[in-house]
Amino acid sequence: MAPTFPRHDREIAEMFDRIAPRYDRLNRVLSFGTDVAWRRRAIALARLGPRQRGLDVGTGTGDLTIGLLRASDPSSVVVALDLAPRMLAIAHRRLVATGLSRRAVPVVGNAESIPLPDASVDRVVSGFTLRNIGDLPRSLREMRRVTRSDGRIVLLELSHPPNEAFAALYRWYFERVAPRAAALLGGDAAAYRYLPRSLRPFPRAEDLARMVGDAGFADVRFERLTLGIAAIHVATSP
Ligand SMILES: C[S@@+](CC[C@H](N)C(=O)[O-])C[C@H]1O[C@@H](n2cnc3c(N)ncnc32)[C@H](O)[C@@H]1O
Repeated sequence: MAPTFPRHDREIAEMFDRIAPRYDRLNRVLSFGTDVAWRRRAIALARLGPRQRGLDVGTGTGDLTIGLLRASDPSSVVVALDLAPRMLAIAHRRLVATGLSRRAVPVVGNAESIPLPDASVDRVVSGFTLRNIGDLPRSLREMRRVTRSDGRIVLLELSHPPNEAFAALYRWYFERVAPRAAALLGGDAAAYRYLPRSLRPFPRAEDLARMVGDAGFADVRFERLTLGIAAIHVATSP
């Protein structure tokens, strides 16, 4: 039976399903390609060893899952979790095309209620998904629940640059330019108006680190990327 999601999550899933065919191209253009280097860094921090298992929360079209599988031991596997079936269908096609589909398990599901047993994965990775989650503390607790002792989470997400002048410039780009550019490029204008709305209330890097600790993780640290436009939070499961 297909899972049913709360209203916020249904709307998010529908939005990502709508933009799925254009998601990769728009992503590269709107980020000027910087997301590629950010993902590379996250993957380097999350590499899986022999027979280890990873979970990619909000897999989308599969960039992180594919990158992680390529960088990891050939006996490792990744569970690719996403709310939006069309995003996941693209990820699946790409996994088949890259010969990695036998090492990936696509699952339609919600980060707030991860359909995996306790202590069943060695790594949780997530790219640009936390901003969209309705109940982030709950979702972080779920990540903690499914991560084995000594396992690690690596969370890549947009953030708030600490330098106020740069932050203002960035907000102007993100709130004024990016949604219009997305519309011009044939994207879904409403979906890209959602972009800034999703970032504004999102916690600053220090606050997100505190939330990760509150969820039960230890050794929480973060790296700012590109003057703080994005950040990677890393923590271990005690
Ligand atoms: C901006 S995309 C990022 C996709 C991919 N990780 C990447 O790096 O390109 C966010 C993805 O998270 C998914 N998502 C949002 N909320 C979610 C939730 N509560 N549980 C699982 N997936 C979620 C969306 O459907 C979408 O595919």
